[in-house]
Amino acid sequence: MRHRLPPSRLRLRAAILLLAAATLLAACAPRPQRPHEVVAAPALIPLPARLVAGDGGFDLDAATPLHADGEAAQQAARRFAALAARSNGLRLGVPTAGGPAPGTIAFVVDPAVSPEAPEGYALTIDADGIAVRASNARGLFHGATTLWQLVAQAQGEAMTLPALRIDDAPRLRWRGLMLDSARHFQSVDEIKRVLDAMALHKLNVFHWHLTDDQGWRIEIKRYPRLTEIGGCRIPAGDGGIDPATGAPVPYCGFYTQDQIREVVAYAAALHIDVVPEINGPGHAQAAVAAYPELGVLDAPVPVLAEWGVNRTLFNVEESTFAFLENVLAEVVELFPGTYVHVGGDEAVKDQWEASPRVQQRMRELGVRDEAQLQSHFIGRMERFLSTHGRRLIGWDEILEGGLPPEATVMSWRGIEGGLAAAALGHDVVMSPVSDLYLDYLQTDAPDEPPGRPSMVTLEQVYRFEPVPAALSAAQRHHILGVQANMWTEHTRSFARLQHHLFPRMAALAETGWSPAQARDYAGFLERLPAQLQRYRALDIAYAQTPFQALATIDGDRRDGTARVTLRNPLGYPIRYTLDGSVPDAGSPRYAAPLDLRLPAQVRAAAFAADGTPLAPATTHTVDATSLLTRRNAELSVCPDIGRLLLRLEDDGPLEGDRAIFDVTIFHPCWLWPAADLGDIDRLTVRAGRMPYAFQLAHDEPQRTFLPAATAHGELQVQGGGCDGPVLATQPLPAAPDADGFVTLDVPIDTGALATRRATDLCLRFTGDTRPTMWVVGAVTLQPR
Ligand code: ACM
Repeated sequence: MRHRLPPSRLRLRAAILLLAAATLLAACAPRPQRPHEVVAAPALIPLPARLVAGDGGFDLDAATPLHADGEAAQQAARRFAALAARSNGLRLGVPTAGGPAPGTIAFVVDPAVSPEAPEGYALTIDADGIAVRASNARGLFHGATTLWQLVAQAQGEAMTLPALRIDDAPRLRWRGLMLDSARHFQSVDEIKRVLDAMALHKLNVFHWHLTDDQGWRIEIKRYPRLTEIGGCRIPAGDGGIDPATGAPVPYCGFYTQDQIREVVAYAAALHIDVVPEINGPGHAQAAVAAYPELGVLDAPVPVLAEWGVNRTLFNVEESTFAFLENVLAEVVELFPGTYVHVGGDEAVKDQWEASPRVQQRMRELGVRDEAQLQSHFIGRMERFLSTHGRRLIGWDEILEGGLPPEATVMSWRGIEGGLAAAALGHDVVMSPVSDLYLDYLQTDAPDEPPGRPSMVTLEQVYRFEPVPAALSAAQRHHILGVQANMWTEHTRSFARLQHHLFPRMAALAETGWSPAQARDYAGFLERLPAQLQRYRALDIAYAQTPFQALATIDGDRRDGTARVTLRNPLGYPIRYTLDGSVPDAGSPRYAAPLDLRLPAQVRAAAFAADGTPLAPATTHTVDATSLLTRRNAELSVCPDIGRLLLRLEDDGPLEGDRAIFDVTIFHPCWLWPAADLGDIDRLTVRAGRMPYAFQLAHDEPQRTFLPAATAHGELQVQGGGCDGPVLATQPLPAAPDADGFVTLDVPIDTGALATRRATDLCLRFTGDTRPTMWVVGAVTLQPR
């Protein structure tokens, strides 16, 4: 079915089709069918390099033939059909041989299309048909993805796609995602789902972090203990103990070489290169646990069950280099891509400095200092890789002490390492912690999952510029691209992993693919709801928090009033109700803080431009009782003390949900700003206890705590901030109750306070935070 209609008439046509479909449905109703939908405006992510809208459109349904000549075209056609079947239930026929013809969708290898851009493609849609052309399989693959994105903007099996012409190619050739499978392990199936999603976002490099202090996850045939021993750790605290038997419960996982090959082949079919990371000389404890002779110390070490920066390094014996080369020999057999990542980050040199044997080796090797020894170490890896036709890439610390010119630098501590590397003539991938670390939380919503609560918002990812203006034209050439990194210390489940990845992967896609001058954050937000629909259609569990209506509540329980301030983290318009009903497109639009009488209930949601809610409505109930309690995530950090805020998950129970706490791990401290203590003479504090599972290396002296006065320490409460008078010092029990918590009844003496009406309430626990630390779960003020 073909036609040529001006866009305004498309709607009328759709309405007629809808009526016809409804009549048909009523007449025979063999199976429910969605009406024919009109995709009015393309909402593509990433934005193509060039898109010109045409007139009218093409009607597509299950009867539309697919044409494809040759294997590359057949593959692209099959991929398109498979995606359309999954997202829309659209059952297209098997692609048949043939080129573009009226009424068909054709996939065509055409050497004349974007000969300069190996990933480029052209897509044309007009009343006569659809054609995807590219000079190779990779381009056709991306073109098929774009076409599918248009189809998935409709929800049914029949649609009109808008006439257009797209000429597209990526801005940057490295559009990467790093996934840490060492700290928490993902199944092969989960890895494949990440790869599928990367392909939908036109990302093309999967950097697979396979070894670290907390786990060695790649089978190496020559060294079976790497996975037998290095593949398991005993998690800290209750998560590592069977409550019934008291036996240790290890956390284990590794990929067999067959599984690795399966993942690499799966990625290759998606035109994704896999870059394995084998980390050294630091982040090496799992390997040293398996083979203690690789370490610097004589004492054996366990696979680490703590996070942070750890001191264990590989030693620099010739036998250790032989080990690493033997490992890399198996790695290069498994991973056919150009690059092998050798880590190089956060290798604090204390063990090398303190070891007479390492110092002797330094003299033998003629290296001046430990930085140069690391440089020697990386140089050895580089020589091995280059003799095997591979290129070394490492974190930006590999620049320190000198680096072979062929090495590529991944700039993570900011963009400075990347700038310096490009100036020295190294290739660079930009992946700064400040903008592209996806374990940092994406909103300030209280129910963001565990991670690092300093934020990396969708907008930051979107606005990150991988090619800094400071670079000369020649240096700019060295910027291969951009990469987001997903560390998983705090990400125990695939659902949480997806929460962190989506929708920020969409912003990364556009940062890496779309022309710099075409990037437009407001336009991206307009296109994002269509992307969410695609996510839902493919069961991608994206984060809801950026799309929710969040509330800040300032209440005065004694006046019986509250001011509720609503916000959506992405700035989408909010609508709300006060009568308990679910807000819809007809509900009042939120414009300014709501001044309400208690009790009140605000239900609110953010809406897309077409009036559909972007996430389920949130409910904010405020009454005299709710104003008396602050849960952990509603408390603030204490000013000037207690660096490194983490959102941590409790260590237990072994199975089931665990509590989540915001903790400033250098000095745990919580603040309830401007608490009204006017009629309060007691607090109820719900406190949990968790293992202090962090290595801080050279930051260790900054870890502080108040001294304990009694055997198990105390809860110390101060008013007027953390320098103000002590209101209570409540002794703690030896241990929490069976559920991991205690409820403390804390009488307070407010006599010394200058004001009791709005005082900053500061809560801390005394005593060493090692090996376990108490954490505030919730605080309730108890009126007289
Ligand atoms: C890193 O985040 N340590 C590369």
